[in-house]
Amino acid sequence: MNEFVVTPWEVKGEIDYQKLIKRFGTQLITDQLAGRLERHGVDHWMLRRRIFYSHRDLVWLLNRYDQKEPFVLYTGRGPSENTHLGHLMPWIFLRHLQDVFGTKVYFQLTDDEKYLFKPGLTMERARWFAHENALDFIALGFDPTKTVIFSDLDYAKSLYNIAVRVAKKVTYSTTKAVFGFAESTNVGRIFFTCMQSAPAFLPSEEEGKNVPCLIPCAIDQDAHWRITRDVAPLLGYYKPATIYCKLLPSLAGPGKMSASIPETSIFTTDEPAAARKKLERGFTGGGVSIAEQKRLGGKPEVCSIYRYYQFLFEPDDKKLNKIYEECRSGEMMCGECKKRLGARLEKFLTEHQRQRARARERLDDFLVMD
Ligand code: TRP
Repeated sequence: MNEFVVTPWEVKGEIDYQKLIKRFGTQLITDQLAGRLERHGVDHWMLRRRIFYSHRDLVWLLNRYDQKEPFVLYTGRGPSENTHLGHLMPWIFLRHLQDVFGTKVYFQLTDDEKYLFKPGLTMERARWFAHENALDFIALGFDPTKTVIFSDLDYAKSLYNIAVRVAKKVTYSTTKAVFGFAESTNVGRIFFTCMQSAPAFLPSEEEGKNVPCLIPCAIDQDAHWRITRDVAPLLGYYKPATIYCKLLPSLAGPGKMSASIPETSIFTTDEPAAARKKLERGFTGGGVSIAEQKRLGGKPEVCSIYRYYQFLFEPDDKKLNKIYEECRSGEMMCGECKKRLGARLEKFLTEHQRQRARARERLDDFLVMD
């Protein structure tokens, strides 16, 4: 029995990503489509390794682009906690897309969502995390002349003006069917998707004409986009296109990295040496003893350490392959492998935290409010 759950608010079990495509009705990124992106200049390990593996209407978006109709990029973050490495993944890829296509970026912080969905989280705290999380986004090097960041609570007027129109087209039975809401669900949650839809249409409102929008994000957000896309033509907008990545696994094994289990997640705010220690306790594909592992080799396919190289820390395919082979053949033991990754992680976090501190002074260059 291998039942897994993927919704915007719950991810559980070992995810079968192919099954998810069928379940959600998204498209696979084919070799042909990846090739087309590469010809546009997209050169990224997350695409080559199909960590970004699925989409909706990306072909349509590229066709428009080829006909000289530029698009915007939109993504977001639910600020309930500090940012962990899993959150950074789509942002790193999006940053590359901004470079390649020279697009404007919209970044939404759904402090309202987290207030509505997380028991015990105050509005003040959600707002505070919104700004803290924005620092991680800015730290990745976004261009302030082409990037806007807003929190729902602080940009409510602009967003609500769109959200309310979306709301008029979404019935209770639709949200209930998509999200499984119950009679006891608070009504804020029922309305919330309309707020997440709004930024997809905001550029069209700003420009007074339809602007194609691409949303890079993790696949768990698809439910929101199903609703957004159904409503779009009813309001005269283009349907937003999406490009989806897989979820970064937890250090404990196959489940995704989750901010609610801090021991098996690495936060951008973790002290680098402490983060390294978490990593060293991570689940591996090693044998029961060194002797056995030397004889039979390790299992990179199930190893959380290998996943970190693959998803984030080893952009070079040849080098990644070497790590794989050295593990499989029993040449490299887990201790050594963790040590190498640990050193990279420490370096990454140290640099990220330096950029993050700089971002604090630059927050106002990015934030919009009304
Ligand atoms: N709901 C998302 C979360 O909890 C945040 C979010 C808002 C988002 N808008 C988005 C994520 C657009 C991806 C793309 O993290």
